[in-house]
Amino acid sequence: MDKLKVMTIFGTRPEAIKMAPLVKELENRPEFESYCCVTAQHRQMLDTVLDIFHITPEFDLDIMEAQQSLSTITCKCLLGLEDVFQQVRPDLVLVHGDTSTTFAGSLAAFYQQIAVGHVEAGLRTGDKYSPFPEEMNRSMVGRLADLHFCPTETNRRNLAREGVVRGVFVTGNTVIDALGTTVRDNFKFTTEVLNKLDYKGKKVIVVTCHRRENYGEPMEQIMTALRRIAIAYEDQVELVYPVHLSPVVQEAARSHLDGLENVHLVDPLTADEMHNLMARSYLVLTDSGGLQEEAPALGKPVLVLRRETERPEAVAAGTVRIAGTNGPDIFDMASELIESPAAYAVMAHAVNPYGDGKACRRIADGILYHFGRTDRPPETFKNR
Ligand code: UD1
Ligand code: UDP
Repeated sequence: MDKLKVMTIFGTRPEAIKMAPLVKELENRPEFESYCCVTAQHRQMLDTVLDIFHITPEFDLDIMEAQQSLSTITCKCLLGLEDVFQQVRPDLVLVHGDTSTTFAGSLAAFYQQIAVGHVEAGLRTGDKYSPFPEEMNRSMVGRLADLHFCPTETNRRNLAREGVVRGVFVTGNTVIDALGTTVRDNFKFTTEVLNKLDYKGKKVIVVTCHRRENYGEPMEQIMTALRRIAIAYEDQVELVYPVHLSPVVQEAARSHLDGLENVHLVDPLTADEMHNLMARSYLVLTDSGGLQEEAPALGKPVLVLRRETERPEAVAAGTVRIAGTNGPDIFDMASELIESPAAYAVMAHAVNPYGDGKACRRIADGILYHFGRTDRPPETFKNR
């Protein structure tokens, strides 16, 4: 029987981190002929992930521009992918999550009547504009896709509410598969300042912030709160903030936080550095999606710098709280976790609602099942 031609498509840092273990799984299974196409919606932040996971894409659209617009990304991806699909004619295209690459990848495949598999399917806030444009991206991919790999049962239910019930598998999130390969006790950082931090004597707080819906006033509020935290707890706290390369974010972070001794504004970290930093940290403040999944698995409390989340599982488990984007609220919630060991202990316990490290295997099994190569459906991931 012919091998199944499966093409993974991704373009940004988080997609790459979460697709990397799946690329490896497909490469290692004899049933698949695996192709990888990157749009390079991100450039440097994508390339470091490709390096760490030793992935050499067969196709690289190299689309990134400084301060690119959503339309530019989408158009460049659509045109570039048309060409790639004509060359390879894959049996299945796999896209991930909710970026513009994800949406354009599934639309380009649909235009050529190529089946689409959506990895990390079914996340929803129900608010069209938050996160923006991700909520609509993932909803539209939900309509275009033939296979839906949901991390959790909650995600499956979200799809069912929209009438999507065929080709749906609950697999766990591939990010937990990735995390299993990066965290090590004896890890040495290439970002030298991270080797010198006093992780036992100080409370090391990891910060990230980049979302488009936070641009403007919300980001001002967040940066002001971070500055207040650094100053109020200058003897106890070290803030480590790897600043996203977006010029909007660079400007917001540097204008508020430059020059504070206990704030370390560093370049984006490689994925293994980031995972090992979180593993050694006290607390995570973030508007990132991926960090909300990784930190709970590492037993680290998270305050989410957004008004809502599409990842309610860790909130229910008590390790993640929504802090919002109002500066004084963020300051108060962080203060409580810095000052009160009891409040901290309530949140700081390892839970893993997002996966058990076997998501990629289940996704590969689900593909084989869908194409009639096996009679056995993949086992369902169950949140313990
Ligand atoms: C994108 C995704 C978002 C995801 C985020 C992960 C969309 C619409 N947004 O947002 O869902 O959470 O990635 O980080 O798909 N830049 C560089 N080098 C890089 C990466 C970015 O210089 O390696 C700069 C460029 O000026 C670029 C800008 O950052 O134009 C913004 O990048 P873009 O992909 O458009 O948006 P993100 O905010 O990164
Ligand atoms: N990450 C990283 N280096 C950094 C910041 C984040 O490798 O400097 C990783 C993080 O561990 C997670 C992913 O990038 O796996 C999250 O990506 P991001 O926050 O850019 O996007 P989101 O998850 O919000 O879509």
